[in-house]
Amino acid sequence: MLAAIVQALRDSRHLLVFTGAGVSAESGIPTFRDALTGLWARFDPARLATPEAFAADPDLVWGWYEWRRQRVLRAMPNPAHRAIAELAGRVPRLTLVTQNVDDLHERAGSAEVIHLHGSLQAPRCFDCAAPYSGLARELDEPEEGRRLPPPRCERCGGPVRPGVVWFGESMPEAALQQAFAAAAECDLLLSIGTSGLVYPAAQVPQIAARHGACVVHINPQPVAPGGPREYSLPGAAGVVLPQLLQAAFTD
Ligand code: OAD
Repeated sequence: MLAAIVQALRDSRHLLVFTGAGVSAESGIPTFRDALTGLWARFDPARLATPEAFAADPDLVWGWYEWRRQRVLRAMPNPAHRAIAELAGRVPRLTLVTQNVDDLHERAGSAEVIHLHGSLQAPRCFDCAAPYSGLARELDEPEEGRRLPPPRCERCGGPVRPGVVWFGESMPEAALQQAFAAAAECDLLLSIGTSGLVYPAAQVPQIAARHGACVVHINPQPVAPGGPREYSLPGAAGVVLPQLLQAAFTD
């Protein structure tokens, strides 16, 4: 473990943890861009993850998101989620910003998670945006590719859509502002399990680096450091994070 990273964690007054799909990979949730296993290697985002796709074929889109939601319901937080929850008790201030639409951080014990890309658990009406509260807890065995008609809005009867951010849509403004503000203020940012390809979320570590924070990338694919205080800790998050905690907080 690099001594500079361990020291930065021990000294941190405001730690920002920024996560992507890779943090949930060891819980069995597929990432988006990993070759072969990533969702976008097997499915076409233009047919599944845009408002136009939902308008054209709501049953296909709703069925696909229900399949994903059911997989998350059956998944458990992994050692990386748990290490992040534990970190909150180790530093004076921790902000957790995720691009993930699962709730595994919350289920591992993290409070106040900032979700930049929405949540699978917060559907709303496609027409009037009213929140929908009638999601089935568990379906039978999740089935890839099963079409399912979306439920109807309790207020206006419109089709209910997943509460996630689709391509071509803007991010929730308040969440984005909170994330950017924390990035400008933090002294250490751990970027965990993200390809850093989707904007504006990918600006979060860039803002932190620009404001002088130490930035550490935890990813099995080594990330080339962009500045003098930027480091790569190659490896799976569920292995690297517990090791980092142990190195920083156990004598
Ligand atoms: P990606 O699939 O683009 O990237 C996942 C990253 O996790 C890759 O860099 C992997 O190398 C890494 N990874 C895989 N297994 C890992 C492990 N065990 N530990 C640590 N890292 C691991 O996912 P995101 O960066 O989250 O947006 O993608 C960003 C956004 O693109 C998503 O939020 C989603 C997608 O389209 C929306 O749905 C709006």
